Amino acid sequence: MNLKELKKYFVSSIYELYPSEEVQSFFNLLSEKHLGLSRIEIALNSDKSISEANTLKFEKAIQQLKDFEPIQYIIGETEFFGLPFKVDENVLIPRPETEELISWVLEEIKEKREERREEREDEFEILDIGTGSGCIAISLASELPNAKVSALDISKGALGIAKQNAKLNKVIINFIEADILDSNAWKLVPIANGIDIIVSNPPYVRELEKELMEPNVVKHEPATALFVKDDDALLFYRKIAQFGKQYLKPTGLLFFEINEYLGESMLELLKEEGYSEIEIKKDIFNKDRMIKCKRL
Ligand SMILES: C[S@@+](CC[C@H](N)C(=O)[O-])C[C@H]1O[C@@H](n2cnc3c(N)ncnc32)[C@H](O)[C@@H]1O
Repeated sequence: MNLKELKKYFVSSIYELYPSEEVQSFFNLLSEKHLGLSRIEIALNSDKSISEANTLKFEKAIQQLKDFEPIQYIIGETEFFGLPFKVDENVLIPRPETEELISWVLEEIKEKREERREEREDEFEILDIGTGSGCIAISLASELPNAKVSALDISKGALGIAKQNAKLNKVIINFIEADILDSNAWKLVPIANGIDIIVSNPPYVRELEKELMEPNVVKHEPATALFVKDDDALLFYRKIAQFGKQYLKPTGLLFFEINEYLGESMLELLKEEGYSEIEIKKDIFNKDRMIKCKRL
């Protein structure tokens, strides 16, 4: 089979399941991964003969796409904040709205440094709670090479991938395996002088919102990363806020990604937990998506 025939076969196998631009993009990503060909090279090499082993890889991907497996899991990687990340079914696929959260954290750090008149960011201790692929911690560490960054998750599988991603992106992160809901496990966080910034994108999708979600998310992404009970949707936020009260420096900041429907409830929760300067920020789709507050 040559490349042109392979493409024709690929498109005809899944065209009823996905929009045509997406099918095109899947083919390009798979060709780059398995054949080492860029988009332009695909167009210029339509007569290129494809080995049986490579044809089988495309055949396998077709079956996975028919089962609505996300393309990022199929190729085993994605890009986030301009960096490469390995992903598998142990971790949530990093989302663009989380990139906005990181930009906000970086803006605030810049402001804090100006206040402190620091040339470098050595002083900063950062903790990412529920790190998953490590996307938040690793992106921050890569932007702030002198900061001390820790990242916590309950999932061994997720931490395994996050460690690989730290290595891939050449950053040092202190990884901690712990259940943030268990206050006895908080002592596993070895922060001597208090944390400057806690950032978290915890599970926040209510069971009742499941049916609004795409089948590929519900079926393939890890449930522990996504779902909370309908009657206690802010459980993680409350616990992390309580953790922050003990572990943040007095001027320390807490940043969360939030459920777009629960902005007002989040505001109330953080007020009740004693935080100040609470600010909600909308994402590019004008949805309440992030919140920031100060410990004292
Ligand atoms: C929404 S995902 C966020 C992943 C990543 N930070 C991101 O933004 O793409 C939530 C993460 O919290 C972790 N998690 C769930 N329950 C936890 C718990 N009790 N303690 C610590 N981490 C937990 C999950 O394993 C998952 O990696």
